[in-house]
Amino acid sequence: MSHGTAPSADPLDRSRFPADPWALRETRYSGHDLGQMETLFAVGNGYLGLRGNLEEGRDSFAHGTFINGFHETWPIRHAEEAYGFARVGQTIINAPDAKVIRIYVDDEPLLLSVADLHEYERSLDFRSGVLTRSLVWQTPSGRRVRITSTRMVSFTERHLAVMTYEVTVLDGDEVPLSISCQILNRQDGQDEYHVPGAAMGEGFDPRKSETLAGRVLQPEESWEKDGRIALGYRATSSGMTIGVMAAHEIETENSYEVFASADADLCKRVYRVHARAGVPIKVTKLVSYHTSRGVPARELIDRCELTLDRASKRGADAEFARQRAWLDDFWARSDVEITGQPELQQAVRWNLFQLAQATARAEGNGIPAKGVTGSGYSGHYFWDTEIYVLPFLTYTSPLFARNALRFRYTMLPAARARAVELNQDGALFPWRTINGLEASAYYAAGTAQYHIDADIAHAVRQYVNATGDEDFLAREGIDLLVETARLWADLGFWRENGDDTFHIHGVTGPDEYTTVVNDNMFTNVMARANLRGALRAIELLRRDHPDGLAAAIGRLGITEDELSEWHRAAEHMAIPYDSRLGIHPQDAQFLEKELWDLPNTPPDKRPLLLHFHPLVIYRFQVLKQADVVLALFLQGDEFSLAQKLADFDYYDPLTTGDSTLSAVVQSIVASEVGYQELALDYFRLAAYVDLADLHHNASDGVHVASIGGVWNALVCGFGGFRDYLGNFSLEPRLPEVWEGLTFRVTLKGTRVRVELTAGQAVLTVEDGEHATLTVCGDEVRVEAGSPITVSLPEAPRLIGSPEVRDIEGSRRADGTRMVASVPTTPTVVVPEPEVDPYSI
Ligand code: BGC
Repeated sequence: MSHGTAPSADPLDRSRFPADPWALRETRYSGHDLGQMETLFAVGNGYLGLRGNLEEGRDSFAHGTFINGFHETWPIRHAEEAYGFARVGQTIINAPDAKVIRIYVDDEPLLLSVADLHEYERSLDFRSGVLTRSLVWQTPSGRRVRITSTRMVSFTERHLAVMTYEVTVLDGDEVPLSISCQILNRQDGQDEYHVPGAAMGEGFDPRKSETLAGRVLQPEESWEKDGRIALGYRATSSGMTIGVMAAHEIETENSYEVFASADADLCKRVYRVHARAGVPIKVTKLVSYHTSRGVPARELIDRCELTLDRASKRGADAEFARQRAWLDDFWARSDVEITGQPELQQAVRWNLFQLAQATARAEGNGIPAKGVTGSGYSGHYFWDTEIYVLPFLTYTSPLFARNALRFRYTMLPAARARAVELNQDGALFPWRTINGLEASAYYAAGTAQYHIDADIAHAVRQYVNATGDEDFLAREGIDLLVETARLWADLGFWRENGDDTFHIHGVTGPDEYTTVVNDNMFTNVMARANLRGALRAIELLRRDHPDGLAAAIGRLGITEDELSEWHRAAEHMAIPYDSRLGIHPQDAQFLEKELWDLPNTPPDKRPLLLHFHPLVIYRFQVLKQADVVLALFLQGDEFSLAQKLADFDYYDPLTTGDSTLSAVVQSIVASEVGYQELALDYFRLAAYVDLADLHHNASDGVHVASIGGVWNALVCGFGGFRDYLGNFSLEPRLPEVWEGLTFRVTLKGTRVRVELTAGQAVLTVEDGEHATLTVCGDEVRVEAGSPITVSLPEAPRLIGSPEVRDIEGSRRADGTRMVASVPTTPTVVVPEPEVDPYSI
């Protein structure tokens, strides 16, 4: 394992975060890790996300409110322009902040960083979907005040957030107490001190968001009326619009007065209460957000009214109950249980809960790399969705998977135009985007990742195979498969050397530490699957949906000639292989390079991307993330176990894991080839990426791909679940130190619970009629009401982990020896000029 060391069995400070299998609880406030805590305690529903900022504002790393897809555009100015470079920058906007509920007692504000707190607990409950904080504050004048607040973003009402703030003064009478409920535009620098948030684009780190210059949100609406306050804006350049409204209610037996005001960037509703000891005051704030590509903000405010009228009528308690019911269903479909491991169980459920928060109501949008928890990666959608997150959705919540794929379908026109711009047939999907246009300014590690096309096609096939949703295939999926297959057939070319081979040159694979190469193994293997998958889909439609096929032929102009060309290209695809080393080189030139000596790379030089120029990194055999090894997982039926082991042994010691997308894949394949302890180490790295801030950037938002990968590592790694062409199989490899592992997969509409214990699997139909799976080579049909118990053979077991020194000295095909080293840093360092390469 070259990713440094796996976290200790339990990396959380349990005196502050007690192990609770159904909640993340914090029992002590700290101002030292505000950014990470804001991410860990964020609430969202895939459309709307509220970072875990304190209600009272002030102390924060970044006050953040994000709406999936609500972005500003800006012209990308390349220092050196070239034809076809990405032109339109897209950055998620920090939406107006409706979380703010400030309190003043005797006119003194509550500031958690300096407050005298007698009690404190914050908890994000995975079953209720509610963030709760309760504390007792002793004010500077000596009064004790109990405050309990709740915050929830609704899964059932996409545009709704519910907040309550309950205050009881414990001593004193007629205590002057004021509660100020606000909506505040923070995007345009409007905060308590009129300074931009710490998180937005400071310092050099390509994983952060850009800082947007100039005013972004142009005021269109601002008012207060009948207990409601509202703001509406139009984004200066993208023209997108937003409306946000809050409805308030106060319940108390204390006397009080109400004040309200509305300015362009701040609306308030203030309750001035004369509080008596022991008499509670409860303020309920229902908030609605609506956004659009351009309808007037006024119209969005009307939609907010509709949402709030409905929610106010039902009341906050009913909304909490609906949230709970929604989550009951979610957990019934998606829970993964690890017996006897409460700490890890908590981490797993936190991860699964994040998947709900990132995807559930994304609907017409993609799934951003940070979900709706932060501004990292500017709110962009990557291949993370299709390869890392969609398997979870496809096998547990197929409707959400369908929505995500339909979103890609809506991007087809832009992808076709992009293919034309890059002189190709078919469609080329952008490497990173919000609005469908390529937003990656660095083409070598961006646009060159043509594999995104094959990744989308992979997810389409996986979804259709798992669900049997041939209606989606006939109407939309086929377009995605055909247009991506066309791209490969056109991008590749033939080499006639007696044994004709089809090659794909000038592309970048998933590993961004090696770019623009010929015949990247991952790309070619996935392109081959894409071509074959498109052909199979056409055959399926020909057989079962002739009308659907006729319509697709009409729409897409499919010809028999191109189908035979796809077939020939797939069957003759060049897959690099080195018979001397017995491995698949990552690309045609990969083995020409020398090895990067990772074990001897100082920790302060990691991650490499923040310490070495790309050219230095590109010169070596060193990986940011799994590449060949990912192909071995996704197209596992194309490779023997011995082949997988040889490739894993070669690449594992060269894989830095500088991307969080790596550990989960390494875990799955380590598990399959027999490195059981290593698989568990990698799994822990993934499960705690955010919870223990292992990549030191959890403050920018959760790592959604890694989180999706956690589910994959559990189900496909330890559970050994595979779906090759709709043939479902299980080869469980339960870690020795676990008593049991239970997960659910929904296969063609039937939900099967798989319970693994040492040497045994029990399969039960939880919902639906029956399902057929191959368990360790034997076909098993499980019917509703008749669970089946299967004895499992012992899984392969290898001790330790592969090492760089095992490959150092290996000889290339030309007989030369491979040498490992670390680039040295000169002792005289030229100071960097003070420019921020990401400011615009
Ligand atoms: C990874 C990409 C990934 C992106 C967003 C990068 O660090 O290398 O593969 O798509 O992060 O998560």
